[in-house]
Amino acid sequence: MTKPEVIVREYSVDGDGQSMVCLTNVDYSDSLTPVRRVLHQSRRPTAPLRVAVAVAAAVCASACSNESSDSSVSFHPTASIQDLMLSVVDPAADAIWESVATIVTHEGTEERRPRTDEDWEALRHEAVRLVEASNLMLMGGRDVARPGFRSEHPGIELEPEEVQELIEEDFETWTRLVNDYHSVAVSMFEAVQNRDADRLFDEGGPLDVTCERCHQRYWYPGATGAPMPSTVGPDTPVPPVAAPAAAPTDVPTAGADTSTAPPLAPMGGTGTIEGHVHLSGELPGNPIIRMGVDPLCAQLTEGKQIVQESVLTSPDGSLANVFVRLQGTFPETPVPDEPVVIDQQDCVFIPRVVGARAGQNVQIKNSDPLLHNLNTQTTTTNRFNVGQPVQGMVYEFQPVEEDGMLRIRCDLHRWMTEYIGVVAHPYFATTDLTGTFTLTDVPAGIHTIQAWHEEYGILTQTVTVEADGVATADFTYPEAP
Ligand code: HEC
Repeated sequence: MTKPEVIVREYSVDGDGQSMVCLTNVDYSDSLTPVRRVLHQSRRPTAPLRVAVAVAAAVCASACSNESSDSSVSFHPTASIQDLMLSVVDPAADAIWESVATIVTHEGTEERRPRTDEDWEALRHEAVRLVEASNLMLMGGRDVARPGFRSEHPGIELEPEEVQELIEEDFETWTRLVNDYHSVAVSMFEAVQNRDADRLFDEGGPLDVTCERCHQRYWYPGATGAPMPSTVGPDTPVPPVAAPAAAPTDVPTAGADTSTAPPLAPMGGTGTIEGHVHLSGELPGNPIIRMGVDPLCAQLTEGKQIVQESVLTSPDGSLANVFVRLQGTFPETPVPDEPVVIDQQDCVFIPRVVGARAGQNVQIKNSDPLLHNLNTQTTTTNRFNVGQPVQGMVYEFQPVEEDGMLRIRCDLHRWMTEYIGVVAHPYFATTDLTGTFTLTDVPAGIHTIQAWHEEYGILTQTVTVEADGVATADFTYPEAP
């Protein structure tokens, strides 16, 4: 059976859509009439020609292989692109990504690989989904999202009708991005056929890149547009583009919610809050980052095990990288002169989670001998997009206002993620590997204290601080899902 995507490449339609060239060695002459009819029928003034070509090609594929001239073949795309993403593409990609990984746990290193016949067979189902989803994406007449759906992050993600417009006005680009995705998916499919776990692993990064390229163009295009600096020079801040940059995220939004904060009891004096954050249940490991997408990063980290630290624990379940802050408003205090320093080293951000006062200097350094590109996401106020092509460059900025957790990513290295908790007052801290934190000089009173973790979300509790006293606020995140 001829694959529709091959046909798409092998047919061409002239300017007025009248003729079609079949470059394969099969005689399709019988089927040209129905195909032409489809072409004419689908050409609405606004319909991009390529939609018609794709549809026609798919019809031809089916008609040709059936060796019939049945013109009644038509598609009925029912689910939206969003549905395809959530029901087909994303779960299949996740299953494949997770099937081959090197996980560093407290017990040692676990090489996760499909091993049994059942493992490979299950993976084959996922690879089938992954690869065929590209054909579903190319069908004309599919909605982007179900009617009435509104973006969950307006101003950050485009609305479905805007995505639709972008696709329709340049279907060629959509097709190209789908085909890029398809090529990697085919390679993964073949890897599964050949039970080649190494190749499956190696394609994990490129697959992610094809997802992200398409999302950056159609879903949250504000996040793109950083012209890569071509010459060596000082940091080159890129002026904000019209749409605020950010990525859709399931990262929990933290922030000062003054509405729920109880009024500050006027007790006078200050005290301390100490606490410990614990993750219950079996502790997840951390996957070693696949850096093969950028050979320079791979070279730089050769022989090292750089892991994705999204859940960083000690063996006793103490949880690091939890950002703790008080909610509410407080009397003004001076912003420290010392900058908050973040480094990019071995193609990761160090530290991964950090706090900064609104107005404080934040310095992000590139210690790697290669290009990084800082791009703020999940923000509409503290926004920048800046390339750092030269080792030693420092980008400095002042977050302008309290902004929940500001997420920064490197456009070139998808695994690089930084979170900065921007807070108006000084009562915040990030837990280290002991899982502990201390907030000092806290005005005596009843406070709401919030813990944020990138995977496990937000926990809050009330804590009473007495003058010169030490109050305790421990948090336990429930068992990892
Ligand atoms: C050719 C373009 C394209 C490719 C390739 C692509 N996507 Fe998408 N994806 C989209 C568009 C467009 C949306 C936005 C739809 C919407 O409005 O939610 C989307 C949305 C999503 C969503 C969010 C759905 C929601 O609204 O909650 C997920 C998750 C997703 N894609 C995962 C993936 C993964 C994983 C890959 C790669 C394995 C991938 N996508 C490849 C175009 C693409």
